[in-house]
Amino acid sequence: MNQDMIVILDLGSHENTVLARAIRALGVYSEIYPHDITVEELNALPNVKGIIINGGPNNIIDGVAIDVNPDIYKAGYPIMAAGHDKALCEIKLAQFTNDEESIKEAVKPFVFDICKAETNWNMKNFVNDQVELIRRQVGDKKVLLALSGGVDSSVVAALLLKAIGNNLVCVHVNHGLMRKGESEAVVEVFRNQLCANLVYIDATDRFLGKLENVADPEEKRKIIGGEFIRVFEEEARKLDGIDFLGQGTIYPDIVESGTKTAKMVKSHHNVGGLPEDMQFELVEPIRQLFKDEVRACGLELGLPYEMVYRQPFPGPGLGVRCLGAITRDRLEAVRESDAILREEFALAGLDKKVWQYFTIVPDFKSVGVRDNARSYEWPVIIRAVNTIDAMTASIEPVEWSILMKITDRILKEVKNVNRVCYDMSPKPNATIEWE
Ligand code: XMP
Repeated sequence: MNQDMIVILDLGSHENTVLARAIRALGVYSEIYPHDITVEELNALPNVKGIIINGGPNNIIDGVAIDVNPDIYKAGYPIMAAGHDKALCEIKLAQFTNDEESIKEAVKPFVFDICKAETNWNMKNFVNDQVELIRRQVGDKKVLLALSGGVDSSVVAALLLKAIGNNLVCVHVNHGLMRKGESEAVVEVFRNQLCANLVYIDATDRFLGKLENVADPEEKRKIIGGEFIRVFEEEARKLDGIDFLGQGTIYPDIVESGTKTAKMVKSHHNVGGLPEDMQFELVEPIRQLFKDEVRACGLELGLPYEMVYRQPFPGPGLGVRCLGAITRDRLEAVRESDAILREEFALAGLDKKVWQYFTIVPDFKSVGVRDNARSYEWPVIIRAVNTIDAMTASIEPVEWSILMKITDRILKEVKNVNRVCYDMSPKPNATIEWE
């Protein structure tokens, strides 16, 4: 890493990540560390230009107020106190609200005038650095990557490909629950355009076979997750001489908000539940990036816009949107209606505005009329929600004219469907997905 860095020491603030994001948005790299970091650990970090001690309400652990290591003040770095009154910090307290623009303004004088940090945090430099670091870590060994087609794994694939070419082996497991055209796009982009070494497994029949007559949502999730690991493992065992496993861990996975942040790393080392006798060293080249930076990195690497700005998609895929026991006709109805919804939202510009939107097909029918005769077919439910963190969500008030056009197309183009509904429920009381 050649970029200048501002270190944030977490002294119990809720706003560590907002602060780090704001500094990065100024073009200066920033990372969050626990309050009790030692001077030796600090000195070992590359290009530290200054420190912000970020205090907040979580500064009491087991009844005792936490504080930074006092040696930090003598280590020779410019130090600013934020969110609390630290007498030992010479530099003035920055007042800011939980809003990126105001934080940027508040920290600018410290970052640029006092720390003299350079604006050298950008995706071009990041990609160059990571290519170098990956080559140093991996050498001429091989890396295996489960390429789901999601943003994170796609960006990791593109980075690894740039660094080690065909020593990257990507495995894409199509569980038959992908959205329309997604598996095809993975093959087109990675195998045909980027010439990656891609193993494509169509495991549709295997997954749908295992899921036959399984109606319980938790059971369905368990089967899909477990089967995914088994298929991936079978493929991994067929490959020779793999020493590394690529993983799309990103910065929010690493940093826990609240106390002693950076030490509370989530236990994602047993990657996706792979068996313990399969020993791999991890390569996690986007572990420093926030989600928006992952997308910017993807664009820098030349990935298509649609892949980089793909909306969130649950691991069990359309399996949790084809309610109850999955049948092929209803699964196709989910897939086709979802494709229509996505097309129409894009035409209306809603794809850039709405956080997540999809369709659901429940496992009951209703009476309707088709070709002057009684029909008895499935309904399609449209869901479109906005959220910051997926913990709560509000519905998007989509214009009637757009909903009517989508309804018209679904009724005309999707087989076995005679009714379209719009889900008006926020989270809570509902969840975003139906299962
Ligand atoms: P809920 O339905 O819990 O969903 O309100 C919150 C967000 O999480 C996504 N989701 C999942 N993502 N694996 C995932 O990677 C899953 O099993 C899963 N289930 C739900 C959901 O799409 C929404 O964005």
